[in-house]
Amino acid sequence: MIYKTISTLLQKADPELAHSLAIKFLKNSYLPFNLLSNVPSSKLEINILGKNFTNPVGLAAGFDKNAEIYNSIFKLGFSFSEVGTVTPLPQYGNPKPRVFRLMEDEAIINRLGFPSLGMDKVRSTIKNNPPKGILGINIGPNKESISKIEDYLKCFEYFCNLCDYICINISSPNTPNLRDLHEKSKIEELLIAIKLKQKQLNNKTKILLKISPDITSKNITELSNIVLDQKIDGVVLTNTTISRDQKLQNSNQAELGGLSGKPLQQSSNLIIQKFYKSLGTKIPIIGAGGVFDGKSAFDKIKSGASLVQLYTSMVYQGPYVVNKINKELEALLEAEGFESLKDAIGKDCIE
Ligand SMILES: Cc1cc2nc3c(=O)[nH]c(=O)nc-3n(C[C@H](O)[C@H](O)[C@H](O)COP(=O)(O)O)c2cc1C
Repeated sequence: MIYKTISTLLQKADPELAHSLAIKFLKNSYLPFNLLSNVPSSKLEINILGKNFTNPVGLAAGFDKNAEIYNSIFKLGFSFSEVGTVTPLPQYGNPKPRVFRLMEDEAIINRLGFPSLGMDKVRSTIKNNPPKGILGINIGPNKESISKIEDYLKCFEYFCNLCDYICINISSPNTPNLRDLHEKSKIEELLIAIKLKQKQLNNKTKILLKISPDITSKNITELSNIVLDQKIDGVVLTNTTISRDQKLQNSNQAELGGLSGKPLQQSSNLIIQKFYKSLGTKIPIIGAGGVFDGKSAFDKIKSGASLVQLYTSMVYQGPYVVNKINKELEALLEAEGFESLKDAIGKDCIE
């Protein structure tokens, strides 16, 4: 009850203030983790990226930007957590206000612009607090970077031995020209450079690419071919959208930035389906965008995702959301006659 009241109060506070209070809460373990967590059924387990995930639900990048709370996130029932986006040098990001709730739409618009304590600080935080679960590190360039590729390489080298996967974020709409990296020749150059660096470092950490929902079918074909050619280990679909085609109610819809939450659900599912048609089972997809309950998670899985991530539903529903999703997923698997989660992947995609 008390946690519901706190959650309701946080929803009324300034979004960034509420977020830093939530981080403090989780960092200091002020939550009754024993009441919150629940051991999911073995039907939800999935072996992917060389790891055994106890359930398919992870925390999306952006929530734990500076790697402060991942061990609490595992305790809440998430099977994996992606920290970041981390940039090489510390940076403040865009001027405030830069995060906006759209309550009626169960959405958020953010134009944070990668506020980060920088890779030095984040690396020492992780070294001092070994992860007790599957950890991904999402990396990106500084706003004032001279060479974006160099920035990714620096972060890759810094973090590749500290986590289970590195996620290369080319899809934030809030760093000028970042999304240009979706162009065929540019992404090819970046991925070749990263793979070469990995080879030089004799490193085997999995590499994922996080993609924008605002892309064309041509982009999807090109990107699929490139990730297959370069032997990238997975794709995260999707980041936030700059589209405002959805019927939004809240007046904050006019704010610039990336839209997340329920209005992103269908468009990210469509992108997942299109990539799944090209990638099949060769490269796993992690689906993100409007995962709020078992059904929305299951829709992503049936569209072709092997795992899902969430951010916005944690803001609106609090830390209980992950267990709720897992319980509902278990019931949906049963109701639709699937023996395991794996059997359901891509089922909506098969023609
Ligand atoms: C406030 C906020 C900050 C975010 N910051 C990042 C980020 O730093 N890096 C990133 O790759 N994605 C970031 N995202 C995108 C999420 O990781 C996720 O891809 C997107 O929000 C869709 O999921 P959702 O609808 O569950 O929120 C951010 C999202 C929000 C709402």
